[in-house]
Amino acid sequence: MMHALGWERVRLYRDFLEPLSPPDFHRFWLLVQRRARGEPLQYITGHQEFWGLDFKVTPAVLIPRPETELLVEEAVRRIRGAWGDTEVWLADVGTGSGCIAVALARELPGARVVATDVSEAALRVARENALRHHVGDRIRFYQGHMVDPLRSNFARRLNAVVSNPPYVLPQERDTLGVDVRDHEPPEALLTDGKLSHYQELIGMAPELLVPGGLLLLEMGSGQEDRIRSFLQVPGWEVMETRKDLQGIPRCLVARHLG
Ligand SMILES: C[S@@+](CC[C@H](N)C(=O)[O-])C[C@H]1O[C@@H](n2cnc3c(N)ncnc32)[C@H](O)[C@@H]1O
Repeated sequence: MMHALGWERVRLYRDFLEPLSPPDFHRFWLLVQRRARGEPLQYITGHQEFWGLDFKVTPAVLIPRPETELLVEEAVRRIRGAWGDTEVWLADVGTGSGCIAVALARELPGARVVATDVSEAALRVARENALRHHVGDRIRFYQGHMVDPLRSNFARRLNAVVSNPPYVLPQERDTLGVDVRDHEPPEALLTDGKLSHYQELIGMAPELLVPGGLLLLEMGSGQEDRIRSFLQVPGWEVMETRKDLQGIPRCLVARHLG
């Protein structure tokens, strides 16, 4: 109702007993009907809060999730621990709304971020979010598959690669809520049974990272062991996995020894 009528929250309480005018009611009711059909509230209002910042969201991007703040928190802590507030170069692979890239740039004043996404429509939203939060001059956006655009456009080695890749397995698709399954972009949700997004990123990261560079990944429920197994190759050290508030291992931190 606040969104439909352009009201501040306090007005909901103040005018609680006042009937709505028919045009106001009509505007509100149309939005209620969209929500009742399963459309996420965030696509109706165009907003989602993440890391204390207001992000624009459209149906072209995944709605930022609270558990992804764990990935940002861990990335900030580890990057600051290793390099302080000096200049660091970071990648956000599969940036979507840009929430991770923007939060990192806001939090780390020395950070330069390169962000990729397969979806040009998502990148348009991400660019807007970077400008909205005054970090547009420190984030470069590239369209393409995973880290491919970085290999062709960008010669510098990175201090950290951060990613929340698609991690819903094909057999899990039908367990998703209607809000998610029928409204959020499939390319933001679905991976294949081999977790190829992770395998590929782990395979490519060594040639992108400085010695001692970090790889921080968000994971789906039950995927920790498989993702750890991809890192059981010389050169990688798994430093930590962190659980989200539901106790699900959600964020993995690895270091490439170079
Ligand atoms: C789970 S969403 C994460 C979005 C955002 N980083 C966040 O945490 O809210 C995964 C993102 O990866 C992108 N994506 C999917 N496949 C990709 C690929 N092959 N290369 C690059 N990006 C890809 C999707 O378009 C989507 O924006």
